[in-house]
Amino acid sequence: MRIVILGAPGSGKGTQAALLVKELGLTHISSGELLRSAAKAGTELGLKAKSIIDRGELVSDEIMLGLIKERLSRPDIEGGFILDGYPRNIIQAGALDELLNDLNQPVDEALQIDVDVEMAVMRIAKRAAKEGRSDDTEEVARNRMKIYSQQTAPVVDYYANKGVLTRVLGDGTAEEVFQRIRGVLQMRPGS
Ligand code: AP5
Repeated sequence: MRIVILGAPGSGKGTQAALLVKELGLTHISSGELLRSAAKAGTELGLKAKSIIDRGELVSDEIMLGLIKERLSRPDIEGGFILDGYPRNIIQAGALDELLNDLNQPVDEALQIDVDVEMAVMRIAKRAAKEGRSDDTEEVARNRMKIYSQQTAPVVDYYANKGVLTRVLGDGTAEEVFQRIRGVLQMRPGS
């Protein structure tokens, strides 16, 4: 199964993707993690990306597509994957479709996790206190939210128009949200 998981910063995409990986044995591909690893490794691309991430803005479509293309060329995607954080705008959504069509691996399911913005900001603030992620300050988190509503929210309609979108309520515990997602996937044909 090939899943795209969508939602605002702090909606729980990474958390739910990790639970789905455990349950379904999929490969988790997080665009944010790909960028943070490149930054940690100190590559030119990673360092360039870090300053953009730290402002809460989007890394260029070209850089992102290069990273995703490379990741999707590895054999561990054969058993299915979950894409978390990509695509993040309509251009990326079109590029992903093209790439996955070439690989004969189209998206089966797009899951949108809906959350209240203030709850998401609160979750990010909690994580900031624990983990100190550099883009988790309140100012940057609010900019990430703004960019999300301007650029990423339209991607939800993109997948709705393709007939593969399901919206899931993201409040409650991580386990409660996961049970909702399980319910959705069990209702899909062929599951
Ligand atoms: P990315 O790493 O993708 O961050 P994000 O989308 O802002 O998402 P978060 O990781 O903050 O939230 P999440 O929805 O995954 O929630 P999580 O499960 O972590 O991207 C970072 C940056 O990289 C971007 O801003 C951009 O600069 C760049 N980038 C990435 N992809 C890009 C792309 N395609 N194009 C261009 N640039 C790109 O949960 C958040 C917290 O809440 C955690 O502490 C978690 O434990 C907690 N939590 C989760 N679920 C619950 C729950 N149900 N109840 C209580 N707490 C919960």
